[in-house]
Amino acid sequence: TLTQAEKATVVAIWAKVATQADAIGAESLERLFSSYPQTKTYFPHFDLSQGSAQLRGHGSKVMNAIGEAVKHIDDIRGALAKLSELHAYILRVDPVNFKLLSHCILCSVAARYPNDFTPEAHAAWDKFLSSVSSVLTEKYR
Ligand code: HEM
Repeated sequence: TLTQAEKATVVAIWAKVATQADAIGAESLERLFSSYPQTKTYFPHFDLSQGSAQLRGHGSKVMNAIGEAVKHIDDIRGALAKLSELHAYILRVDPVNFKLLSHCILCSVAARYPNDFTPEAHAAWDKFLSSVSSVLTEKYR
């Protein structure tokens, strides 16, 4: 679980990320699909070329969910319950992929806000995205 200080750091950086959430979401997916092309197999029905409408639309949805998790940082499980069922029971995304996407989100945030991305901020966001991923994969068990 995140400490109070880590939660405050996540919330503070999210305030900036939220203003460019769509662009950061799209960039995170571009990084995911170009660095880890095997992840594209979950999106056979998507046009995944850089800047496509589907890629941008999906990036926006993903960041929206991250925003909900930030807003309910003391109850991420409750906030993402429906999304957890979707990923586990319907989409059946292998849990390893959540680490890959989390890494790509982290890179996109770091690249955009280098001055805010201190080692402490890096650690707090890493922990936060791990919590989000745990919630989204826990129904598999
Ligand atoms: C759908 C969030 C990780 C594959 C979605 C949706 C959201 C979301 C909000 C849309 C749900 C809806 O339309 O009701 C997230 C978050 C993640 C995550 C916050 C982790 C931080 C992943 C990973 C994969 C994945 C790692 C696979 C590599 C999919 C697919 C869909 C989907 C295939 C359905 C797309 C469609 O047909 O519209 N996700 N997701 N997700 N997600 Fe995730």
